[in-house]
Amino acid sequence: MQPRIKIAASILAANPVRLEEEIKQIEMAGVDLIHIDVMDGHFVPNITMGPFIVEGIKRITKIPLDIHLMIEHPERYVKTFAEAAGKGDLITFHIETTKKPKEVISLIKDAGLKAGVSLNPDTSTESVENLLDTVDMVLVMSVNPGFAGQRFISKVLPKIARLRSMAPDELDIEVDGGITTENISQAVREGANVIVAASAIFKTGDSSNAIKTLKQKAEQAIREEYHNKVNA
Ligand code: DX5
Ligand code: ZN
Repeated sequence: MQPRIKIAASILAANPVRLEEEIKQIEMAGVDLIHIDVMDGHFVPNITMGPFIVEGIKRITKIPLDIHLMIEHPERYVKTFAEAAGKGDLITFHIETTKKPKEVISLIKDAGLKAGVSLNPDTSTESVENLLDTVDMVLVMSVNPGFAGQRFISKVLPKIARLRSMAPDELDIEVDGGITTENISQAVREGANVIVAASAIFKTGDSSNAIKTLKQKAEQAIREEYHNKVNA
């Protein structure tokens, strides 16, 4: 059985000029993580937030940060992001961006943060299987990274299941991209327990309610899955 469900709100779809208010609202709704999408215009065709945004967010909330680096040469920037964030926060890099993942993981951990590794929809699980004992989280992309509001790619579901079957019990498996109240149960049933949502939270007009509904659906999926296994 997977670790407990956590909802990670991606502020990519929040209103950037009302960010503080948006964050206060999701904090009150009991969101588990704030997911920050860092894009460099090289690894992905978009440019977003840098360390100074992380530093600013850190000043206004105690919710743990989930920093998703979609950048080339992650080893060059990990330290700066780690300093902007704080001990116990999490930094995830993409396996496609480095030949030395273990070194990047060490850099993150040496700075006192948790380390995650991510894979794109077309990248096979084999690329990260030897890292499952070393990282705190694996992030399975369910869209090609770059933008919020894309459609969920369901062919990644078997990858989640494979990783869950191989992973140590406590490993967090995160799914990111195109998550809705309709498909969240599928991702959870395959073994994801950290669920990222941007549009499904910030584009609904009621982010608190959206978080609560997503969490309820995810927890219900876990209970049903457990029930099915026990009765199998
Ligand atoms: C995409 C980002 C996602 C994005 C998700 O590259 O990594 O975190 O914000 O957005 P939605 O939930 O709208 O697909
Ligand atoms: Zn992301």
